[in-house]
Amino acid sequence: MRFIDQAPHFVQTHQLRPDASHPELIAGLLRTPARIAPKFFYDALGSRLFDAITELPEYYPTRTEAAVFAQHGADMARHVPNDAVLVDLGAGSCAKAARLFPVLQPSAYVPVDISVDYLRDTLAALQQRQPDLPMLGLGMDFSSRFDLGPAADDWLGDRGLTQQARIVFYPGSSIGNFLPHEALALLCQAHAVCEAGGAGGGLLIGVDRVKPRAVLEPAYDDALGVTAAFNRNLLRHVNRLIGADFAPAAWQHKVLFNADESRIEMHLQASGAQTVRWRGGERHFDDGERVHTENSYKWEPEAFMALLSEAGFGEARHWTDANGWFSVFWAPA
Ligand code: AVJ
Repeated sequence: MRFIDQAPHFVQTHQLRPDASHPELIAGLLRTPARIAPKFFYDALGSRLFDAITELPEYYPTRTEAAVFAQHGADMARHVPNDAVLVDLGAGSCAKAARLFPVLQPSAYVPVDISVDYLRDTLAALQQRQPDLPMLGLGMDFSSRFDLGPAADDWLGDRGLTQQARIVFYPGSSIGNFLPHEALALLCQAHAVCEAGGAGGGLLIGVDRVKPRAVLEPAYDDALGVTAAFNRNLLRHVNRLIGADFAPAAWQHKVLFNADESRIEMHLQASGAQTVRWRGGERHFDDGERVHTENSYKWEPEAFMALLSEAGFGEARHWTDANGWFSVFWAPA
């Protein structure tokens, strides 16, 4: 065991500051129906609650995706390049990417996450275990615009990695949080990031598929109520960000599969009429009125292939599990 006092490099281009005005968040609260973007789930507690969700028996995506990697990893490694710069979108605990290191042998690891403090901690722990792999953490909100930025370009340049192929790794079906046209925009930006590196790069992305409602809905409405806590924790985060007085206990967790839109929806429903106040504003909610907090799109493979191609990627392939519940796509740039 080696103990090295080495902290990974970290670049923070974004922070959800409690003293900022958050016009986008407030505009969402004032709409009818009200909405709060899912990126606000991920304060430090929210990131931990999400990690707990992935352990639940009802929440099949994480486990199923892991099975796809375990079963098809060797075949994937024939298509996905070694020695690449591995860019990990929404890295969170960094655990999924770390499991790929032995298979893909990356020459650098660049995790990106909006949950800055959480990423800083998990990345420091990972760097202790992998002291020889260059790591650069990027604390940024890639949901509005994704590129690596000049500081990352310099960091790669200093290490002679500018011409290395780039793999953008986006696991967990987080792409499902975006409306189809937003997903397309993000995939176009991911394509540009791949193209800016050496030949052979591409996108390795996990995508949850359409399946029976009886499987989908419990995955987002578990018996222990962890997902309900995750959903309500959003209100605590919003309270801190804009000085609001949401009472989390006065909101019920609601889940439905919207088959027409092919998406799981999560909402918070007011138990009783209430007025919520924040710095510089307020809103009245009627009894039963909802705040829309998340969409989680479920894609058919053909439709996702078409989206990848529209985003500029070459011919994609995908691997799936025995039930065809979850697919991992490799789309060469
Ligand atoms: C992280 C967006 C993939 O949509 O399944 C889990 C988030 N929300 N349970 C998903 C989530 C409620 C998750 N993603």
